[in-house]
Amino acid sequence: MKYFTTTSKASRRASDCVIVGIYNRGKLGIGATDIDTASKGLVRSLIKSGDISAEAGRVAVLPDVPGVKAKRVAIVGLGKSDSLDAIVMRKAVAATIKALADTKTRQILNTLTLEPAKGCNPYYHARHSVEAIGDALYRFDQMKSGRKKAPLPLSTIGHSIAKRGDARQSMLGADHGDAIANGVAVAKDLGNLPPNVCTPSYLGRVAKKLSSGNGKLSTRILNEAEMKKLGMGSLLSVTAGAVEPGKLIIMQYKGAGSDKPVVLVGKGVTFDTGGISLKPGLGMDEMKFDMCGAASVIGTMAAISRMKLPINLTVVVPAVENMPSGTATRPGDIVKSMSGQTIEVLNTDAEGRLILCDALTYVRRFKPAAVIDVATLTGACVVALGHHRCAIYANDDKLQAELFTAGDNSEDIGWPMPMGEQYAAQLKSNFADIANIGGPGGGSVTAACFLGKFTDGMSWAHLDIAGVAWKSGAQKGGTGRPVPMLSEFLLSRAGALP
Ligand code: BES
Ligand code: MN
Ligand code: ZN
Repeated sequence: MKYFTTTSKASRRASDCVIVGIYNRGKLGIGATDIDTASKGLVRSLIKSGDISAEAGRVAVLPDVPGVKAKRVAIVGLGKSDSLDAIVMRKAVAATIKALADTKTRQILNTLTLEPAKGCNPYYHARHSVEAIGDALYRFDQMKSGRKKAPLPLSTIGHSIAKRGDARQSMLGADHGDAIANGVAVAKDLGNLPPNVCTPSYLGRVAKKLSSGNGKLSTRILNEAEMKKLGMGSLLSVTAGAVEPGKLIIMQYKGAGSDKPVVLVGKGVTFDTGGISLKPGLGMDEMKFDMCGAASVIGTMAAISRMKLPINLTVVVPAVENMPSGTATRPGDIVKSMSGQTIEVLNTDAEGRLILCDALTYVRRFKPAAVIDVATLTGACVVALGHHRCAIYANDDKLQAELFTAGDNSEDIGWPMPMGEQYAAQLKSNFADIANIGGPGGGSVTAACFLGKFTDGMSWAHLDIAGVAWKSGAQKGGTGRPVPMLSEFLLSRAGALP
């Protein structure tokens, strides 16, 4: 995709489509005002006749508007002018791309970037625009046979700026947005692939491929024998029932010499049947998304290495299948983690924490500046926060606040959650050091507390993304979250935000 900025008026710049916005009560945005003047009042008359609507996300595409150089004008509703924010902007841009789906639009000029939206300077305006377009253009049809619908041949995106001095910020936002949109697409693809294709070995191959031809990025993969040598008895207990071999994938990006790295750990359960504590059948297919934590940290690595950020980043993915079989772990089994702590496996469906705890112990060797694990960890998190915000746990208030802010700025939002000794006490076991479940109350919190027993002395956060990583129903598919939040966090840590 190519990007440009322009100070030209909406009507004066040639393109396949110019996007302008209108608000409730007949208020026109900056681009729409110009189009209205150039077309001798067309926009106002269409509002009056009720042929176009200012409702947020509504779009009318008008070809050959007199006085306008662009081939089409997309007039998009922005709702109430005083509640304009990045969410409305993203929705408007995405709706426009959907409305253009059957056209041959190659270049677009987005003038919505001139509107005064909350939390949007020229940088974030351009970034949100590019990310929202990337989201709207995304298709997953590689498993379908037969003729596929041709995608919109979009190749150039322009952003309107108020003054020449805004060009650098806008171009930087577009550049970062491009890398983040690409990382989101990587994560969506991995999530959407079926579990018979996206196995632990497949995740390893994708990680290897990302690092080939990138001098700053390298990938290593440990097999089960190597993990056994390291003492990862907890991780290996999850893969014990599976025929597909488990893998530990380690990606290292070196953009900042000898600085301590930020380490991202992603849960990579490529299919979660529950194991011997078998899940009910209804909707079990969705447990192919149980590797979305892994997908998001690999997608974030793709974004960060593409931006060439001056930061060191390490990504670690424990990748396994959780299957029932004669060799599977039983409820009641006691396993020994790499940290030395013994764990009573009371429920084999609480497997995410069993692979993460060994990965979290493993990453100590990197002396991390911060460790963030990302996991579709608990159904209880979905009950607590629904599908809008992920849960942000941390043993470091500053890190928790940083992630919260990164979520806000990137519109990939989270919410801070509590931990503490009272919750951790729910994990007591009569027979081992700890149990892998903490009873019916506060299931997302006790899962976080379990991980907290393996992160002493490190600055650590845990994102429970069970509610946000994918959508169910007619829209079923990976969302690529929290790639934008993590990218924003790393952009900020690298000092790369304007
Ligand atoms: N992968 C699931 C969590 C999950 C469930 C995410 C539904 C999204 C939707 C996880 O491995 C799991 O099964 N957790 C159990 C834990 C319980 C046994 C303590 C759960 O949430 O039911
Ligand atoms: Mn499970
Ligand atoms: Zn799981």
